Amino acid sequence: MTQPLDVLAIRAEFPILSREVNGKPLVYLDNAASAQKPNAVIDAMSDQARTAYANVHRGIHTLANETTEAYEAAREKVRAFINAGSVNEIIFTKGGTEAINLVANGIADEIQPGDEIVLSIMEHHSNIVPWHFLRERHGAVLKWVEVDEAGALDMAGLQAALSEKTRMVAITHMSNVLGTVTDAAEIARMAHAVDAEVLFDGCQSGVHLDVDVQALDCDYYVLTGHKIYGPSGIGALYGKADSLAKLRPFQGGGEMIEIVERDRVTYNEAPHKFEAGTPPILQAIGFGAALDWFEQFDKDAVRAHEHAIYQQAYEGVRGINGLRVHGTAAGKGAVLSFSVDGAHPHDLAQILDRYGVAVRAGHHCAQPLMDHLGVSATARASFAVYNSAADVDAFIEALHKARGMLI
Ligand SMILES: Cc1ncc(COP(=O)(O)O)c(C=O)c1O
Repeated sequence: MTQPLDVLAIRAEFPILSREVNGKPLVYLDNAASAQKPNAVIDAMSDQARTAYANVHRGIHTLANETTEAYEAAREKVRAFINAGSVNEIIFTKGGTEAINLVANGIADEIQPGDEIVLSIMEHHSNIVPWHFLRERHGAVLKWVEVDEAGALDMAGLQAALSEKTRMVAITHMSNVLGTVTDAAEIARMAHAVDAEVLFDGCQSGVHLDVDVQALDCDYYVLTGHKIYGPSGIGALYGKADSLAKLRPFQGGGEMIEIVERDRVTYNEAPHKFEAGTPPILQAIGFGAALDWFEQFDKDAVRAHEHAIYQQAYEGVRGINGLRVHGTAAGKGAVLSFSVDGAHPHDLAQILDRYGVAVRAGHHCAQPLMDHLGVSATARASFAVYNSAADVDAFIEALHKARGMLI
């Protein structure tokens, strides 16, 4: 049986959670934007900088070797985290956005006018704009799959959007606004049935789901470090070995080359072919430490805890007059987006902040979804492994007060 998490002990590992904001204990509910970092991550990065830092891959001296070992060990941790078949399928990037740009840029030369890219209406701009580049510069056509009232992906619509012209299906594994979890294995099967590649944006799902890229049979999977209790400035792209072998390099310089001559250049193998320049070394090591830290928990227990916290918040806000929750699809993750009639989300967030409660307000980099919902912005509370029932109580109490002040 799954043991419940000891949330108090977990919170004690996050120094920032003991600070106050505006004279109140911090209630941090902006985890979908960026999660806080445990001591294990902060210490791993500072210990590395203090004791064994040099540039990676290029040196023959001891510090260069030690740093390279730590950097490559982090790559193995990412591989294990998503069960990729080989470390050569894991590319470090500076985040989720760069990973998606790397793929879009890498296939650009193959795109013919009229080739189609299939996206969902709930994508983050990071999984829209790189494909717009292919539309603007190479004549690709973007096809959009809708979501239903609850925020679930329209699978029949996806089927209808696929054709022999589809080159890429690029869809989120979990929406940063609705919390919707998509049926990634089925999406991959459908994409492959028309010989298209499939990329999953796992920036949110990486921290809320158990990801197995081999079981999903995806061609690309995108992770970002700062939402999995790691540092910012680091992410990872998983690419199937066959897909990476065909993909053109994104940026030039550094370890991505094999030979450079006056009139010719040849490239290194993946993953180095895609890691131009000095990589984010300490960030990669911090990312590895975050995965080690997170892997100590039973994933079922994490999910059960986050679900309970989400449910408590959902029940709490449902009692508020004129409040609408966006995203109620079955199996959704711990993200609660909402609107309150007569109160702008920015005003709500500002008042909540006075009570020490950090939530996000805005379009959440998902303007096509905002259009679909008929709003310009929402407020969003998003939950992490360290959030407690007391956090939710404080949030609901502050929300009642904020509504009272605004309406
Ligand atoms: C679903 C989703 N995709 C992509 C991104 C972008 O990731 P990064 O900030 O690592 O570039 C985010 C971050 O907000 C996200 O939530």
